[in-house]
Amino acid sequence: MDGAAELLFYVNGRKVIEKNVDPETMLLPYLRKKLRLTGTKYGCGGGGCGACTVMISRYNPVTKKIRHYPANACLIPVCSVYGAAVTTVEGIGSTKTRIHPVQERIAKCHGTQCGFCTPGMVMSMYTLLRNHPDPTLDQLTDALGGNLCRCTGYRPIIDACKTFCNTSGCCQSKENGACCLNQGINGSPEVEEGDETSQKLFSEEEFLPLDPTQELIFPPELMTMAEKQPQRTRVFRGDRMTWISPVTLKELLEAKVKYPQAPVIMGNTSTGPEVKFKGVFHPVIISPDRIEELNVVNYAYNGLTLGAGLSLAQVEDILADAVLKLPEEKTQTYQALLKHLRTLAGSQIRNMASLGGHIVSRHLDSDLNPILAVGNCTLNLLSKQGERQVPLNEQFLRKCPSADLKPEEILVSVNIPYSRKWEFVSAFRQAQRQQNALAIVNSGMRVFFGEGSGIIRELSISYGGVGPTTICAKNSCQKLIGRPWNEEMLDAACRLVLEEVFLPGSAPGGKVEFKRTLIISFLFKFYLGVAQILKRMDPVHYPSLEDKYESALEDLHSRHHWSAVNYQNVDPKQLPQDPIGHPIMHLSGIKHATGEAIYCDDMPAVDRELFLAFVTSSRAHAKIVSIDLSEALSLPGVVDIMTEEHLEGVNSFRFLTKPEKLLGSEEVFCVGQLVCAVIAESEVQARRAAKLVRIVYQDLEPVILTIEEAIQHNSFFEPERKLEYGNVDEAFKVVDQIVEGEIHLGGQEHFYMETQSVLAVPKREDQEMDIYVSTQYPRGIQDIVASVLKLPANKVMCHVKRVGGAFGGKVFRTGIMAAIAAFAANKHGRAVRCILERGEDMLITAGRHPYLGKYKAGVMNDGRILALDMEHYSNGGTTLDESLLVLEMGILKMENCYKFPNLRCRGRTCRTNLPSNTAFRGFGFPQTGLIIESCITDVAAKCGLPPEKVRMINMYKEIDQTPYKQEINTKNLMQCWKECMAMSSYSLRKAAVEKFNSENYWKKKGLAMVPVKYPVGLGSRAAGQAAALVHIYLDGSVLVTHGGIEMGQGVHTKMIQVVSRELGVPLSDVHLRGTSTETVPNANISAGSVVADLNGLAIKDACQTLLKRLEPIISKNPRGTWKDWAQAAFHESISLSATGYFRGYEASMNWETGEGQMFEYFVFGAACSEVEIDCLTGAHKNIRTDIVMDIGHSINPAIDIGQIEGAFIQGMGLYTIEELSYSPQGVLYTRGPDQYKIPTICDIPTEFHISLLPPSQTSNTLYSSKGMGESGIFLGSSVFFAIHDAVNAARRERGLLGPLKLNSPLTPEKIRMACEDKFTKMIPRDKPGSYVPWNIPI
Ligand SMILES: Cc1cc2nc3c(=O)[nH]c(=O)nc-3n(C[C@H](O)[C@H](O)[C@H](O)COP(=O)(O)OP(=O)(O)OC[C@H]3O[C@@H](n4cnc5c(N)ncnc54)[C@H](O)[C@@H]3O)c2cc1C
Ligand code: FES
Ligand code: FES
Repeated sequence: MDGAAELLFYVNGRKVIEKNVDPETMLLPYLRKKLRLTGTKYGCGGGGCGACTVMISRYNPVTKKIRHYPANACLIPVCSVYGAAVTTVEGIGSTKTRIHPVQERIAKCHGTQCGFCTPGMVMSMYTLLRNHPDPTLDQLTDALGGNLCRCTGYRPIIDACKTFCNTSGCCQSKENGACCLNQGINGSPEVEEGDETSQKLFSEEEFLPLDPTQELIFPPELMTMAEKQPQRTRVFRGDRMTWISPVTLKELLEAKVKYPQAPVIMGNTSTGPEVKFKGVFHPVIISPDRIEELNVVNYAYNGLTLGAGLSLAQVEDILADAVLKLPEEKTQTYQALLKHLRTLAGSQIRNMASLGGHIVSRHLDSDLNPILAVGNCTLNLLSKQGERQVPLNEQFLRKCPSADLKPEEILVSVNIPYSRKWEFVSAFRQAQRQQNALAIVNSGMRVFFGEGSGIIRELSISYGGVGPTTICAKNSCQKLIGRPWNEEMLDAACRLVLEEVFLPGSAPGGKVEFKRTLIISFLFKFYLGVAQILKRMDPVHYPSLEDKYESALEDLHSRHHWSAVNYQNVDPKQLPQDPIGHPIMHLSGIKHATGEAIYCDDMPAVDRELFLAFVTSSRAHAKIVSIDLSEALSLPGVVDIMTEEHLEGVNSFRFLTKPEKLLGSEEVFCVGQLVCAVIAESEVQARRAAKLVRIVYQDLEPVILTIEEAIQHNSFFEPERKLEYGNVDEAFKVVDQIVEGEIHLGGQEHFYMETQSVLAVPKREDQEMDIYVSTQYPRGIQDIVASVLKLPANKVMCHVKRVGGAFGGKVFRTGIMAAIAAFAANKHGRAVRCILERGEDMLITAGRHPYLGKYKAGVMNDGRILALDMEHYSNGGTTLDESLLVLEMGILKMENCYKFPNLRCRGRTCRTNLPSNTAFRGFGFPQTGLIIESCITDVAAKCGLPPEKVRMINMYKEIDQTPYKQEINTKNLMQCWKECMAMSSYSLRKAAVEKFNSENYWKKKGLAMVPVKYPVGLGSRAAGQAAALVHIYLDGSVLVTHGGIEMGQGVHTKMIQVVSRELGVPLSDVHLRGTSTETVPNANISAGSVVADLNGLAIKDACQTLLKRLEPIISKNPRGTWKDWAQAAFHESISLSATGYFRGYEASMNWETGEGQMFEYFVFGAACSEVEIDCLTGAHKNIRTDIVMDIGHSINPAIDIGQIEGAFIQGMGLYTIEELSYSPQGVLYTRGPDQYKIPTICDIPTEFHISLLPPSQTSNTLYSSKGMGESGIFLGSSVFFAIHDAVNAARRERGLLGPLKLNSPLTPEKIRMACEDKFTKMIPRDKPGSYVPWNIPI
């Protein structure tokens, strides 16, 4: 075995030679830390988010072809890119040279908000265009399926990508690229005179054309190397690991003899996550490179033989080709495989993962193995001893020694036989999300009949997700052979399979009853599908299916998306250079897209910088008996480990009401509580050492996790809150009916794409400390750091350039982390960086409060609700954090759009042993709003009225009073409601839905419309004060700073628009560097939809001060420029710098009297959604959503529409698929995108219409605008209620007329189990208490 000392590859056209490569290093940290290419982002480290997408290009000397494919740099071992060309976002374009059309269009179509996902999106799109310059819409959505975005809701990203589907429409006059950097009113479509509304947010005409000749060429040196280099094994040796890359089959086999235990790494998508997340370590890795035999494609007489080294994407192409070429009867297995390949992971993983790696890994949820197993595939194995074939059968899947690979064997290829006439193969899967999500249960099924007999000759059924690996129902199949294909057979099959594929109540993964139901529901689908084909093949002998049952067969498809927006044009009298009201691109849009936008962890390392990693509690409630640091401290590179002792006297901080501990000491109160902080020279060393800290616990009682347990233990935070209006008890005496119910809502993870990040830099002088941090609350960080360091605040400065998403999650927990990092930095006199990994972040920082809402409504038969008695319980976790405020806001907003003449609402925050829940977009209202809408839905059911009618009957009158006696004018609410009804053609579509439902038994549609009234205000004048600083320089350029944080909501863009309007300067002359406690002190939290409003008013104030001062100078030279005026002012000693201030809106609430003037204004809106559900699997598809919003005078319609859409999709996630899972011991299982599913591109409504009401009222707010940050979240509940409607239709048809109780999120599991039928009745049920469940509902 020969050794190669150097790793050679290309990055963005430049040669990289690495002489001392560590094989444990992944490409992502190599790019970011070593090459300083920070455009490629870390979002999860496990291949699940796409933030790290790069393009890999390889030359194949045999085919003479270059393959470009997208890949997740976080899972690519750097050694594996030998001889490859890597292209990162920096390599395709930059503002310094020329930006790429993909970068330009995603920015100008408003496809970036926080921008953290954008480089990954750009690279996925770019790679697609390298391979398909004129892509289809299917290819587009497929290419982006592996990229998550938490901000935009994807619609604008799709719009940007769609512009490549048609190559016409380029702007020749802008071919030098100047327009892309122009921060003028770019992206504003031309407005025709007389037009009052606009339907476009960007103008395609100015886009740069896509010119494939401009792309980086594949490095000729790599081609020559591939052609000429003598074939020899490369070896890279690191401190702990050796990497061996054989380039011939012979060498591979030799390496396997020498290191039989070494894994054969192909895509590293199975081994990589095991190493990263499960602590598996391999001292030797064998990674074959370009071995021809592993890439064979051979159409043999008995089937297709595919090399084990082919990627899943290549397999998909080959199978698609085979299906086209071969007669249909031969391709049954191929079609089934294709079906699953299309939804398996994202495009990046499919391009990296190999067929061999997939098969050999034998994951329990493998999508391909169940099909390969029923398809009678054979594995061709090879070792130095020779070759042999083993069937891919149950023994192989179970790893029985006789049927498994021997340690020195490798899998060379797989033979997938052709199917025969009268043979049928099908594939089924159901996941939490339709695409890019591991299956909850999947299945492959095959039946072979004797020619025309309809008698089962062969039958194979395999399931994934129901055991430790793929499970074959062999005995059941055996018993069914010889039986005719009829309902009796189906019935017997279901019973046999349920018995054989036994799932205990405590089975890992939970969802046991759902899984059992899926097992037989899939079987039923298979039965129907085959019956239908048999009928088609031989109509005489086989009975036809009733039409309405055919609906079981079609899968719900994500069809081509299209969208429409409609917003008011600016007043024609507005000055043309005034940018207010125009859809201006996000200020950082282009930089997001080129990777030049700097986030906290993109900052270069400071000299001698250290890294901090936390050790967290693994117990929900325990006494810490001892902490042994010795082993961790002995690791090389470890500088210090801080415990509570180090922080003596400063280990707690009071954020709002109650002091909170920084590091846990004697007792811990939740899993994930911070206990120690390990400080080391590098991130790798700190993380390794953190794993070696040994903590001995003594468990304590009680462990309270759920709201129900908290109620039982009377475990609450004080105070209780109550709001009362009218006389509820008296009103209950006169009503016709009483409706009682309750609903439980699960929590939600913020899932901001940039994880919590801090860099604390001690200055050498005067004990000054600089904190660079991803936070919404720099002042809070400054306060806590100053307190922990016992310094005055003027020594601690906190700087925030931008935040990669926050949604309420970057406030208090961030402060605690920053304080500990600053303490360490101060102690060691060295900078300290702390960046949480995704799993840590999810574990430590918690999120939205789970809620339990109980209601009792006194109702008249016409639907009027005269009395309402309501109880809210929120799960606050272990500390109070912002829970009281969340509870209060939840109560104050609980009535949504309805007037209940007699109302009582009580709220309590439960103290539990979970990480402390905190602020999250909507701040309590998404929970309490859903509770009231559920109550309305129940009332409608009880009164036999449509829910929308009950909504209308109970809506506020135009001028009315809220329960806390604040006056409200709801004229625009009614207008939104009516327009939404009209825009969505509600009545027509309702009738169409009913018709569909009467014709389809297994698929149902649902339609629902939900109104929203979102009160905006922070509850006190002090909380709403804001300040700004505006400087004018002598060249006429302007620098503006304010207290708000740019976290994707576009506040800085709006603020520049404000300066531009106020001073009359072009947007391009105004700059905003970021937020800092140094420039604007004492700023409030950026939250609550008001950041632009409050800071904008402060900026306006500063600009007006300046204008007033400069007025004499300007009037002397009215035709002058800002440069002229600035210079004249300087000569006359007039200050060109001004602060601006806004005191905040008056707001107060007296909880004793239940009266207050809490809110400055109300945002109104309505959304109508239509869904289709699959009653057999629980899948749902959002077919169409219409939203009408009243947003006042929009400052920037592109940004405001972006906020509405992004929030809507986040809300849809909250109410349908985002499900946190905890063990009975309080351990969070869902710690990454693999387990926790936020919406992807496939989840957005197929049709999406958004319309903004024309502004009708003027108000005190900034240019009469309204803040749009939060209200859209609740509109996602229209999808929840549409599903509710569909489930109801299914239940009605099945004779189930009683009340329907559906909790949130309305996951496939809940949908399926609510659509009760003969299959849900057939499954075994476990007695509660007879087993320990894997997870518990929180
Ligand atoms: C984010 C993400 C999403 C995913 N989603 C899905 C999904 O939706 N559905 C699904 O089914 N799967 C999914 N997967 C799993 C994925 O399909 C597998 O990880 C992948 O197929 C493994 O292939 P690989 O080449 O990367 O294997 P590697 O990690 O390179 O290797 C895995 C194992 O296979 C062995 N091996 C590899 N090749 C050979 C060979 N030729 N001979 C002998 N042994 C060999 C190795 O020794 C190693 O033990 C997902 C994975 C990720 C990371
Ligand atoms: S960071 Fe690589 S996929 Fe998330
Ligand atoms: S813009 Fe996509 S995650 Fe923020």
